[in-house]
Amino acid sequence: MGSWILIILVIMPGAWSGDWQVTFEDQCALKGSSVVIKCKYDYPFGNIVTSVLWSKVLLVSGIRKLSPLSSLPVPQDHFIYQGNYRGDCSLQVNDVQPFDEGTYYFSFVTTFNRWTSKTPTYLSVEELTTVVQPSTVEEGEKVRLTCVSGCPKPTHVRWFKDGKAVYNTDFVASRKDAGRYYCAVYGQEMVRSAPVPLNVQYPPEKVSLSVSPPGNILQGGAVTFHCRSDANPPVTQSGYRLYKDGQFISSGMSYTISEVQPSHSGHYYCQAWNNISWRGNDRINSTEVHLDVQCKSAYRPMNISISMDPQEVSEGSAVNLTCSSAANPAAYSYTWYKMTPYSSSDNSTMIEVGSGQVLSVLSMETLHIGAYICLVRNMWGEYSSPELLLNMKERQGGLQPVSILAGIGVSLLATLVIILLLFWRNRKNDADKKIVSDTKPTEVTEDPSYSLYANVHTFPSSPSIKSQRNSHFDAAAFYEDEVTYSTVSIKPRNSNLPHYIQQESRSTAGKSDESVIYATVVKSS
Ligand SMILES: *[C@@H]1O[C@H](CO)[C@@H](O)[C@H](O)[C@H]1NC(C)=O
Ligand SMILES: *[C@@H]1O[C@H](CO)[C@@H](O)[C@H](O)[C@H]1NC(C)=O
Ligand SMILES: *[C@@H]1O[C@H](CO)[C@@H](O)[C@H](O)[C@H]1NC(C)=O
Ligand SMILES: *[C@@H]1O[C@H](CO)[C@@H](O)[C@H](O)[C@H]1NC(C)=O
Ligand SMILES: *[C@@H]1O[C@H](CO)[C@@H](O)[C@H](O)[C@H]1NC(C)=O
Repeated sequence: MGSWILIILVIMPGAWSGDWQVTFEDQCALKGSSVVIKCKYDYPFGNIVTSVLWSKVLLVSGIRKLSPLSSLPVPQDHFIYQGNYRGDCSLQVNDVQPFDEGTYYFSFVTTFNRWTSKTPTYLSVEELTTVVQPSTVEEGEKVRLTCVSGCPKPTHVRWFKDGKAVYNTDFVASRKDAGRYYCAVYGQEMVRSAPVPLNVQYPPEKVSLSVSPPGNILQGGAVTFHCRSDANPPVTQSGYRLYKDGQFISSGMSYTISEVQPSHSGHYYCQAWNNISWRGNDRINSTEVHLDVQCKSAYRPMNISISMDPQEVSEGSAVNLTCSSAANPAAYSYTWYKMTPYSSSDNSTMIEVGSGQVLSVLSMETLHIGAYICLVRNMWGEYSSPELLLNMKERQGGLQPVSILAGIGVSLLATLVIILLLFWRNRKNDADKKIVSDTKPTEVTEDPSYSLYANVHTFPSSPSIKSQRNSHFDAAAFYEDEVTYSTVSIKPRNSNLPHYIQQESRSTAGKSDESVIYATVVKSS
């Protein structure tokens, strides 16, 4: 027995003072951290420790009661006994929580005795606290971040904003710095302060005014203006103001006119204000919105009709087709089309033959015969007139259309034509005096297809017009082959496709520059 005690003494010299005692110190721990409560205990020589126990003082219905840690409702590894059975009784507490704060006792049992520490150790649980100064700033102002630890022990911390590391704790605020800041123990980032928001204010931006419905508004309808902006703090109702042509209309985000009148037409803009100024401007303007209210009486082109002057046309005479319509606002464009029948079928195609309210045919010809329509456009759309059939009065003496003419004997025709020629030349000379002409007799020029027509304006060329030209070729060739015939050939300077004289409208009639017309009297042999 003596030799056994001696061995212990030799192995652990000075390990025991020999008194029953436990020594530890109060601890401060940050919430979420792990802490070790350092602890030592001692007992008289000769005892052998058989069990150890940490307990916490709990208040159970007003009575202080010592409860073993193992009986506390905590996760399994919350308390870990780091000590041993020979004098070290250190206790590790993981993920310290506020409920861990309190008074703890250590007890141990030896072969001869049991012992509980006379004084307890106190574990206080503190937190990191983030201070953002100031917590509300205007853009451009300085901000300082401070981390305050509740425990006296100095703590090395890191900074985060919305989970992302932040390296400056003194900075000039911009709106992207807004967010929730917290500090955390370096290396133990789960030990952190509660997040603290930084609010960065800025004046209204992207101020925009919208109007619904958009586009042209008819008198009597409802119109709503809506002003929006991006601002911090957000613009309040009273922070919005609506102006029309520089005049204050109303405050508020939205403004509705339930029965809009033409007098409401104008340029509107809104202003937004949130108490934060920008370059000295407190009120920020939106872009302008134009409101255009149409009279209720506005309507699409209606009652479109074509009138003909004179009512009857004979070959070679002039005729005006006039397009009339009722429209509000007034029609701003008229376009003329001729329906050209295909030789192979009854189907027609439309050839654009002019524009302007009046379509003038200077000298009526077979190829002008056909159905005409005009298309009238104002702001509500484009609409068509009914067709007008332009035909020629049959000539005295029974001069028939080309197909019938072909059947008549050549000699009879020749006689007839000679008579007609005299009649024709007299009449035609009078009629053509209006046009500046070169009446010098010449040979038939290169392209007989343009004879009998004059045009002041140039047609847009299109393939469909070509087909019309071809049909005319046939007619001219017929005359040349079969008939001794004189024609007045009027050639425009632009020899592309002249068939009509167009006038822009009645108001601009007479603007046509007749001096550009060249006329030739051709006498076929
Ligand atoms: C914002 O408005 C309040 C009163 O409405 C005023 O006391 C405050 O000084 C204003 N702040 C700024 C930055 O203009
Ligand atoms: C807003 O518009 C008004 C009127 O046009 C003008 O006097 C004012 O200077 C404008 N404010 C800003 C910030 O542009
Ligand atoms: C169109 O003609 C009809 C019948 O003549 C007439 O009652 C109507 O008022 C006309 N419309 C316009 C817009 O002039
Ligand atoms: C056709 O209209 C023009 C201009 O409006 C006019 O000068 C010309 O005399 C009219 N022709 C006929 C046949 O009415
Ligand atoms: C003519 O018009 C009819 C009906 O509009 C159509 O079925 C036919 O295919 C057309 N014919 C030609 C040659 O375009």
